[in-house]
Amino acid sequence: MTHKPLVLSGMQPTNTLHLGNYLGALKNWVRMQEEMPCFFCVVDMHAITADAGYGKPAELAQSTREVAAAYIAAGVDPKRTPIFNQGQVPEHAELSWIFNCVARLGWLDRMTQFKEKSGKHKERSSVGLYTYPVLMAADILIYKATHVPVGEDQKQHLELSRDIAQKFNNDFNAPDFFPLPEPVITGTATRVMSLRDGAKKMSKSDESDNSRINLTDDAAAIADKIRRAKTDPHPLPAGKDELAGRPEAENLINIYAALSDKSQDAVIGEFAGQQFSGFKSALADLTVAKIEPITREMRRLLADPAEIDRILKDGARRAREVATPVMEEVKKKVGFIA
Ligand code: TYM
Repeated sequence: MTHKPLVLSGMQPTNTLHLGNYLGALKNWVRMQEEMPCFFCVVDMHAITADAGYGKPAELAQSTREVAAAYIAAGVDPKRTPIFNQGQVPEHAELSWIFNCVARLGWLDRMTQFKEKSGKHKERSSVGLYTYPVLMAADILIYKATHVPVGEDQKQHLELSRDIAQKFNNDFNAPDFFPLPEPVITGTATRVMSLRDGAKKMSKSDESDNSRINLTDDAAAIADKIRRAKTDPHPLPAGKDELAGRPEAENLINIYAALSDKSQDAVIGEFAGQQFSGFKSALADLTVAKIEPITREMRRLLADPAEIDRILKDGARRAREVATPVMEEVKKKVGFIA
């Protein structure tokens, strides 16, 4: 059996979204809407796995609205594509429990993101942080989604989703019941790095705000962060081979390429041998030109929170139309009396 192409992806509502979220994922979502049906969720249930989202109800609700506003401002059309928060679609949690019994401890023990996020004090992390990738598999498979557009850091979680789908299909003698979802990791900025350290990825949780460009930054802040971005003493490279060992230069070139929809080669050709100061001012202008309209639209949408809540409710209703029958089939396969 071949599964109908369908896209599912999501983002955590913890802190504000940044350029990495936009270039690694959101920009591709907007394009994929033209190619196949999509569902985009704001993963509020994932957000409470860590301190950033736990025990802060007002902030969590506000962040959820902000992320939904960012989706819409970037070009996701809520009339065509359901946008909803995970907490309003209980089937995610229901399927996640069953997947907790499908996934093996050994599989979760290999997850590098848990190791990074739990740090030195694993025993103090929530159990939710540990089983986080299991909930992510449920997010995808409750819709039998086939394509998952994400940044490179989510690749291992996607492999786990495929393993869970495969094991469920085998264990319940239901070949092809769940599709094996494909990660869609495309573009020149699948892993945007910190502006302060080319070895670290741009992240919401970095303590330095100068390490990232937030989707809520104004033009002056964007220009300032790019001007201060770490570089090296050499001019811009004349060819790809000169990028080796220059992660900061490569990162800025990749950001420029992704924002301008050009290849890395084309950008290298355009700025070959120039000083960083000139390149940085071109990059700042380009970033402001691409990000500012999104920021402005986000602000406009956030001025009417009731309208965002209405969009999320409507998205959840449409999501449940797909999720409920799948959950019913799953329960039957598992042996739960309905
Ligand atoms: P989250 O909220 O950390 O990030 C959202 C999306 O942004 C991408 N991303 C990046 N891409 C490029 N460079 C970066 N520096 C960068 N930082 C983040 C992420 O890869 C992601 O695509 N577990 C997910 C959320 C999730 C999900 C799902 C995704 C929950 N359920 C189901 C897809 C399908 C997460 O924490 O993403």
